[in-house]
Amino acid sequence: MAILFLTPSANAASRWADGLKKQFAGEDIRINSGPEGDGDVEFAIVWKPPPGRLAALPNLKAIFSIGAGVDHVFADPGLPEGVPIVRLIDETLTTQMTEYVVMNVLWHHREMDDYAALVAAETWRHLHPPRTPERRVGIMGLGVLGSAAAEALSRFGFSLAAWTRRPRAWPLGEAFSGPDGLQPFLARSDILVCLLPLTPETAGILDAAAFSALPQGAVVINAARGGHLVEADLLDALESGQIKAATLDVFEQEPLAPGHRFWSHPKIRVTPHIASLTYPDAAAREIARNIARLRAGAPMIGVVDRDREY
Ligand code: NAP
Ligand code: GLV
Repeated sequence: MAILFLTPSANAASRWADGLKKQFAGEDIRINSGPEGDGDVEFAIVWKPPPGRLAALPNLKAIFSIGAGVDHVFADPGLPEGVPIVRLIDETLTTQMTEYVVMNVLWHHREMDDYAALVAAETWRHLHPPRTPERRVGIMGLGVLGSAAAEALSRFGFSLAAWTRRPRAWPLGEAFSGPDGLQPFLARSDILVCLLPLTPETAGILDAAAFSALPQGAVVINAARGGHLVEADLLDALESGQIKAATLDVFEQEPLAPGHRFWSHPKIRVTPHIASLTYPDAAAREIARNIARLRAGAPMIGVVDRDREY
């Protein structure tokens, strides 16, 4: 039986080929192959699989995303029924996202954009940002990544809130949930961090209505998916001053197109979808552990709910 790696990226295919061959020594590893031999494929490891490709694998037992997000899998309208979809839960991914969130929250909390502007004008001036317990940070999504980021931020003493789909007790701050909890959550988020999965419920959630519910001068950090953000609404909110600044790691269209307004916008910090990166050796190890669990009849870790799409 075979393991098939599917990605449109030649770069990812070459980076993963070695990691997979090392991790699955002795197994039949195929990179973007087919349709000959499709009947041998037991496991698919994927990033943005070509639509309909997974449905052509008659003996597929599981689909593994090489990222934490699985929106790229659900984007396939021909996704085969009944095959478990497994997302990546990996220590490196979690650590890097925590670093990214902490770095950017601190950047905005300490008003470093303002200092950069002062320095550019050769002006020596002290600003007086709110002290850490007075700075309200709101985290959308308290899953693997949001929880880790929140724990790290709580160690600095920020005033935290989180917004989730289901209600929960949360010792680190105020917990809000569901559509009814969104407005009060936003109203107390000076720095908003989006770590939601992209689903039909969360697409476009960072829109004009959300921006106007935030305190005036709030900052938006989107490290989740470009599909969460309505780009034109952000530009309007930055223009009006309702939103002071944004840090964006993810975009509706990636790579961000040359000439896109975000590249050079003075109030937007752009990073090229690097908040956390998948390292093939570590990720292949996690996938191998899950395959071993499946073969032993044990539950896999990170199986997503098909109805919720995360
Ligand atoms: P996760 O463990 O599945 O957690 C998802 C969280 O979002 C949960 O707390 C969930 O609420 C909440 N949520 C889902 N739908 C919601 C809704 N409709 N309303 C309110 N809350 C909702 O996900 P994760 O591993 O933390 O990853 C989050 C996302 O980060 C991924 O899906 C991916 O898109 C993105 N990501 C980006 C990068 C990057 O480099 N930029 C890297 C990795 C991941 P409940 O707790 O109530 O279920
Ligand atoms: C990256 O975006 C991921 O989903 O892991």
